[in-house]
Amino acid sequence: MADIQTFKQENRVFAPPAEFVKNATVSGMDAYNALCAEAERDYEGFWARLARENLQWKKPFSKTLNESNAPFYKWFEDGQINVSYNCLDVNLENGNADKTAVIFESDDAKVTRVTYRELHKKVCHFANGLKSLGVKKGDRVVIYMPMSVEGVAAMQACARIGATHSVVFGGFSAKSLQERVIDAGAVAVITADYQVRGGKQLPLKSIVDEAIAMGGCDTLKNVVVYKRAGADINWVEGRDLWLHDVVANQSDICEPEWVDAEHPLFILYTSGSTGKPKGVQHASGGYLLWAVLTMKWTFDIKPNDIYWCTADIGWITGHTYIAYGPLAVGATQIVFEGVPTYPNAGRFWDMVQRHKATIFYTAPTAIRSLIKAADADEKIHPKQYDLSSLRLLGSVGEPINPEAWMWYYKNIGNEKCPIVDTFWQTETGGHMISPLPGATLQVPGSCTLPLPGITAAIVDETGNDLPNGTGGILVVKRPWPSMIRTIWNDPERFKKSYFPEEFGGKVYLAGDGAIRNKDTGNFTITGRIDDVLNVSGHRMGTMEIESALVANPIVAEAAVVGKPDETTGESICAFVVLKRPRPTGDEAKAIAKELRDWVAKEIGPIAKPKEIRFGDNLPKTRSGKIMRRLLRVLAKGEDITQDISTLENPAILDQLKEAQ
Ligand code: WT7
Repeated sequence: MADIQTFKQENRVFAPPAEFVKNATVSGMDAYNALCAEAERDYEGFWARLARENLQWKKPFSKTLNESNAPFYKWFEDGQINVSYNCLDVNLENGNADKTAVIFESDDAKVTRVTYRELHKKVCHFANGLKSLGVKKGDRVVIYMPMSVEGVAAMQACARIGATHSVVFGGFSAKSLQERVIDAGAVAVITADYQVRGGKQLPLKSIVDEAIAMGGCDTLKNVVVYKRAGADINWVEGRDLWLHDVVANQSDICEPEWVDAEHPLFILYTSGSTGKPKGVQHASGGYLLWAVLTMKWTFDIKPNDIYWCTADIGWITGHTYIAYGPLAVGATQIVFEGVPTYPNAGRFWDMVQRHKATIFYTAPTAIRSLIKAADADEKIHPKQYDLSSLRLLGSVGEPINPEAWMWYYKNIGNEKCPIVDTFWQTETGGHMISPLPGATLQVPGSCTLPLPGITAAIVDETGNDLPNGTGGILVVKRPWPSMIRTIWNDPERFKKSYFPEEFGGKVYLAGDGAIRNKDTGNFTITGRIDDVLNVSGHRMGTMEIESALVANPIVAEAAVVGKPDETTGESICAFVVLKRPRPTGDEAKAIAKELRDWVAKEIGPIAKPKEIRFGDNLPKTRSGKIMRRLLRVLAKGEDITQDISTLENPAILDQLKEAQ
């Protein structure tokens, strides 16, 4: 979706309001520069100071960073900590016990408030319940839950007993779930009977049943089911347990399991450039440190804020900026079960108004679809709502185009709220490049400058630094505390994907292209440089979708590319060769639908190709390599003006021009 031209020409600049600067945690560019200078002067000292000041350690660390087995870096390794203790118990001790931790709003707008004391109790019950099932430190637990207090509590309960969770987004299919349960070697799955979204009940437990029935989940002992909707579900005696039974009669106290700082807090699967998703493994101490610091620096969180991150706990944003960060800083946050368009597309604005949200963090794709909706229907236009409680807006997941940025700034922020366009990834654990709201001059479409301590840079294919104004490959030159530790079960892939030898094996390769402004040094992300698509802020591997397609018995070959899309940023376009003659007309439409449904079953509805085109073949070089760059041009509906002299079968291009 990278529209470098508009980014380059962007010269509107927005300074943070004076009032904001005055009260900000990082107040003014001098404060930002001072933190950067401190990190540069004494990198380890900088992180050690912050880790001591911002976290409660059971056993203090004496060693900050261990680089001896790079790129398997270790942070604070001889320190002992518990993440759940830092998110809950700490708040009972510092006067937040009766403060609201979570304002939960269900799909049908029922509001439940949970204080820190209540959440602590809930998590202790949950943690003791898991222990009673035999779940122990180091075990893996898969969480396949709707947005709920119970979902957050499940993650916290795992953290409390030292079990490593792996949350699987509720939109993933049985097959995807099964693969993750097997790869993680999970001993338990925590799920719900149903999830309720947009007025509809969508099954979760039956998908878990289906996943287990596919076989291979040999490590799995129990399925714990939270009763959300109360409708009938299938039950396997001895394996399946209701959450309310598991937590009944459990003690209000669960001593936290103190773990080494490097103990794996969670594994979160994400798409890469091969067919198999990667289990991104995060540590405990370093991860939590960055969650806390970015809550303070990027979100400028204050005791009276009503903070709302609209992400799902199934993604990294929902981990760092719902399940952990806000709790670790004692914030009050909104957790929302539903979707932005139900009962109408004014839902977000209605909720901001009713709950008097002060900080609002969402994805460009949501903003773009709500712009469209507001244009189409005056009644749900944000001007109909009182959004004056807002003081800070955030954006995450994909590049935000300058026009969407401007709309967000004017219509939601009333030209008084800074916007933090936060660039980061599942692998980075937290924000990497982002304005600090009380310091940085914001430029629409640019994520501006690296956070203090983050050594982001732009290099060429051989790892050499590029000057500002020249686009290149985004890297991070030094390890940072919340970075990915390894890929679960696949350390070699970890090295190859993120610390490739071509770049010297020591710099972290983000997988994105970027360019820095000649004068300001501001970063603009130009999009993925690998075979990864970003659809509505969801990361999808083209190979993953291709593997799903060719797994269908009627498909001979498939190639998937991204196509720029006004609302979703990118959309999925699949070029398919069948084992039978190329279909046309109604037959092609019917087969396209069949294949879309097939992909939804193989991966999940989010991976459904928007377009499917059939050919007798795919454009290939003489050596048989698929020429994806040509497919990208065709997907856009543009004429091919590029050099096609290496193309063996030029006639195929005409066939692939039209979508079904
Ligand atoms: C990829 C990471 C970050 C949490 C949610 C997505 C893209 C993310 C931005 C941004 C431009 C962005 C990148 C990145 N991305 N934020 N502010 N501006 N691009 O996490 O699923 O791991 O995806 O999302 O391409 O590599 P993820």
